[in-house]
This record gives sequence, C-alpha cells and structure tokens, in this order.
Amino acid sequence: MVSITTLKKTTGRRFVVRRSGIHGKGGFAVQSIPKGTRLIEYKGEIITWATVNRRYPDDEGPGQNHTFLFEIDDKRVIDANVGGNSARWLNHSCKPNCEAVGEDDRIFIESIKPLKPGDELVYDYNIQLPERHTPALKRRYLCRCGNRGCRGTILGKKR
Ligand SMILES: C[S@@+](CC[C@H](N)C(=O)[O-])C[C@H]1O[C@@H](n2cnc3c(N)ncnc32)[C@H](O)[C@@H]1O
Ligand SMILES: [Zn+2]
Repeated sequence: MVSITTLKKTTGRRFVVRRSGIHGKGGFAVQSIPKGTRLIEYKGEIITWATVNRRYPDDEGPGQNHTFLFEIDDKRVIDANVGGNSARWLNHSCKPNCEAVGEDDRIFIESIKPLKPGDELVYDYNIQLPERHTPALKRRYLCRCGNRGCRGTILGKKR
C-alpha cells in the first residue's frame, strides 16, 4: 500500500525556479526525483532559423550569449521567449543530471541521475553554432558550471 506521504512526494511540483550560483535563475529539485523521470516539456513558439535571425540579430557584443532558444533541428527552433514555461530557466552543466530528449518536434527534460531536494537541474546544452567554434566564440559562450572537467564553454563539440 502507498502511504499518503509517498503520494504527496510523487505528485505536485518537482522543482522550483530560484537564483542559481551558475547563472541568473535555475531550476532546483524540491523532492527526490528518480533517474529517468520526465520533468517538463521545453515549451515555446516553434520558429525557423530565418525568424531567429530576424528576431535576434547578433550584435557580436560581449555577454550576448544569453538564449532562450532550443534547436530542434537544422530548420526549426523553440523560442521560449514566446509562450515558454519554467524549462527555460534550467542551466547548462558539463556534468549534467538531466538531458533533453526529442520526440518529433517536442523537447522534454528528463533526469539521468537520481536527484535530491536542493539539487540544481542541469543539462548539457551542447549548443551548435553554424560557424566554427573558435576559442574566441567559446569564451563568449563561457561555462560557469564550476565542475572539475568543465569544458569551459556551453557550446558543444562540433557535429
Ligand atoms: C535558457 S537560459 C537559462 C536561464 C538563465 N540562468 C537565466 O536566468 O536567464 C540560458 C542562458 O543562461 C546562461 N547559462 C546557462 N547555463 C550556463 C552556464 N553553465 N554557464 C554560464 N552561463 C550559463 C547563458 O547565458 C545561456 O544562454
Ligand atoms: Zn562547464
């Protein structure tokens, strides 16, 4: 038989959004979460890369690495600035405890490790830019995850 306490723990909010030591706001577990739990869908408006470029012209300035965009494929992107949910606050880490899973044109964030209350939910953004990932570009997309073995950038290895 399942106790009321267990029921309470497995229902309701699994994480909250608050200030993160990595960057700005982040998502933090408020209950124990087993590995393999689907936590949230990365919601937002689905747009093309052409719309991204129109909407967010890159000014090459410092600190211009902030993004609420999630690449679905080489044609489509989810823009969480429009109709986004709490998934847009989850930060990147080079030692992730979550991953982004694609299903058709939808993206879900799932735990890949058991999480304890207070753990920050992080996944590897593995950002792929069309241009070469030069050292300067990597610095511009600096990673502050603070893990030993941090690769120093939120950009991924070029596919
Ligand atoms: C989807 S937002 C995550 C929410 C963000 N913390 C905020 O408060 O807006 C993605 C942006 O957060 C920042 N970010 C996320 N993870 C990071 C990390 N490990 N190191 C440095 N900046 C990070 C980058 O600017 C990135 O483009
Ligand atoms: Zn890192």
